[in-house]
Amino acid sequence: MQLADAAYQERDRLVINHLGLVKKVAVGLVRRLPAQVEMNELIGEGVVGLLDAAIWDLVAKVAGRPLWAELRHRFGGATSERVPIYATCGFYNARDDLDTLRAELRQVLDLGYDCVKIKAGGLPIADDCRRIEDALSVLAGRAALALDCTANGDEGRRRAATFAMGVGLAGALGAAVTGLTDWSETQGESRRTGLVHGLLNITATTLFATSWAMRQRDSHDTGRAAAWAGYAIAIGAAWFGGNLVYDQRIGVTNADAHLPEEFTPVLRSDALAENTMTRARVGKADVLLVRQNGRVCALAHDCAHLGGPLSEGTLKDGSVICPWHGSEFALEDGRVLTGPSTHNQPCLEVRERDGQIEVKAAD
Ligand code: FES
Repeated sequence: MQLADAAYQERDRLVINHLGLVKKVAVGLVRRLPAQVEMNELIGEGVVGLLDAAIWDLVAKVAGRPLWAELRHRFGGATSERVPIYATCGFYNARDDLDTLRAELRQVLDLGYDCVKIKAGGLPIADDCRRIEDALSVLAGRAALALDCTANGDEGRRRAATFAMGVGLAGALGAAVTGLTDWSETQGESRRTGLVHGLLNITATTLFATSWAMRQRDSHDTGRAAAWAGYAIAIGAAWFGGNLVYDQRIGVTNADAHLPEEFTPVLRSDALAENTMTRARVGKADVLLVRQNGRVCALAHDCAHLGGPLSEGTLKDGSVICPWHGSEFALEDGRVLTGPSTHNQPCLEVRERDGQIEVKAAD
């Protein structure tokens, strides 16, 4: 018997742990949704609460008890076998709302309920008050009235969702400008992928703009449908965007990151004449060496923008210009003097010992 109890408790513990994990994941996912989604009424309506209720329902089923008995078993509390129940009705209707509400209330009274819950909070306050007064007059003291104030269609949420969508659209314009700038300098596969990425984003943004316009005209259902279509397309666009950044390194630094941690000989001192630059290999990285005003400077060789070969660029007094798109970097510390690169060029520490130029990554 004790063994059976132990097995039962172990099964119970595993189910609870497993479902707890599912719930944590669900909560994490909802928290990570973009602000626009969070503001959307469809998502905002207590997804986490629904999951919580569904999980506990499942736990009770696994335990073989009614949910109220399972909760009492775990957390203690009242021991009454009687469970109060109420009837739910009074959902909002587009037409004949009050007539429908009254008919529903009479029906549940006829069924013998002594507590009834109706929706509230989804209409202007005056309209909601009228519904409540009507409900009270029908119930006439024969049943208690409870209000469920989490109704869909709340005006404040709708305004917030429309506002958030407008902010998102303004942000999309900025993102389009920077994306177009990046794309204009790509070639080959990156150019094709960027084109698909851009076209999908334009389609998604057009759908969001349609959604925003529909919401302005109080067509919230159509607006929601357009926004969901936009989200679906934006997910596809995001996949191509991720490919551009992570696989093709567009929009991130292309400068080599494998620079030596310790001083490492890279070139004989006499091989680098005054006011010249050259490419040299150190470990797994290429570096640009420049001698100017008697001093040797070293930068990562591949341009941070799209990997252009800096040693083939133009040497100026105190700077080097990339041959591909003209980004200019200071020799002294690698900072960007002129774009399009938005990333500084990694700079190395340099010393000359025993006729050798030695470099290491800056601390
Ligand atoms: S690769 Fe574009 S500026 Fe260097």
